Amino acid sequence: MNRLEAIVSCTHHLYPTFDIGCDHGYIGLSCLLKSQSHVTFVDASQHVINRLAERQMVSDFKGRCRLRTTRAEHLKCPEKPHNIIFAGVGFLPIKRLLSAWRSSPQFFQHRYILGAQTHAGYLERLLDDVGLDLIHIREIQEGQRTRRIVVAENACAA
Ligand SMILES: C[S@@+](CC[C@H](N)C(=O)[O-])C[C@H]1O[C@@H](n2cnc3c(N)ncnc32)[C@H](O)[C@@H]1O
Repeated sequence: MNRLEAIVSCTHHLYPTFDIGCDHGYIGLSCLLKSQSHVTFVDASQHVINRLAERQMVSDFKGRCRLRTTRAEHLKCPEKPHNIIFAGVGFLPIKRLLSAWRSSPQFFQHRYILGAQTHAGYLERLLDDVGLDLIHIREIQEGQRTRRIVVAENACAA
């Protein structure tokens, strides 16, 4: 199993997904194929979002795709349970998002998936510190590199 498959396999198939720092969008596109739920592609770069908008698959799944150009830390905590995927987006945006969302009553209903991040160890501690449970950790070998896929959720919601 590669990193992409491992991340997608960690999603809750009934939840809509936020692919945060989506870039090429492969993670979100794979989620569209796996489930019947919506995917919101989020990236700080307008160029990234314009490029995604031109993809045939995004047109094919138009009713289930949202494209948003915004910084992760400016997103509001969704009201319904979501998969929130952070893969390669950087430590600070995630830290800021988690501290902004932490006070929301909906914070603990989401499934947070770290899909190979820099400072993965700090982020895992951060997820733990904000009161989430690390319910699943998987290591994927990509060439010389070991990538950690981490799922954090309120264990009572799992
Ligand atoms: C290395 S790519 C990750 C691509 C993909 N998620 C993956 O794991 O294969 C990082 C992406 O995060 C976006 N990004 C960086 N900082 C961001 C932020 N604060 N909010 C949203 N997107 C951000 C960049 O524009 C870039 O497209």
